[in-house]
Amino acid sequence: MPETPAHLSAESLAAIDREIAKYPKGKKASAVMSALRIAQKEKGWLAAETIAFVAEYLQIPAIRAMEVATFYNMYDLKPVGKRKLCLCTNIPCALMGAEETAAALQKNLGIKWGETTPDGEWTLKEGECFGACAGAPVVIVNNEKMHENITAEKIPAFLQSLKANNGE
Ligand code: FES
Repeated sequence: MPETPAHLSAESLAAIDREIAKYPKGKKASAVMSALRIAQKEKGWLAAETIAFVAEYLQIPAIRAMEVATFYNMYDLKPVGKRKLCLCTNIPCALMGAEETAAALQKNLGIKWGETTPDGEWTLKEGECFGACAGAPVVIVNNEKMHENITAEKIPAFLQSLKANNGE
């Protein structure tokens, strides 16, 4: 494949190859979610060209990779901040105060759902159930680190600790 800005690093391609190897021969398409995740980790977000590159690498039509990337909200189709906070607002989290948590996040960060702070430090996204309802309300940082019981009154300290620990 020709080198373009959408081209992924050798490390990312090796990681995608490892995902492909988990499926039967001729079923590369099954690795599409992992491949998009790996591409997003390298690029920071998924441009249409990056999605098309992943599709070509998996030998599937670009629209099939695009369908996946646009369906799941852990994929970012535009640039995001250094720390992306995704708050679950489904029923169990809502019953435990996710609406108040959302309001506190928006007030403290000065942004609404789907927005990024002007300094590029924070992005706020609304999420679907993470399967961790016992810890409601739940926030996932940068798609990887889960934080439970994030009630509205904890938000100032929560944001402070994320800033101090670089999103951890
Ligand atoms: S409803 Fe929020 S984690 Fe399940």
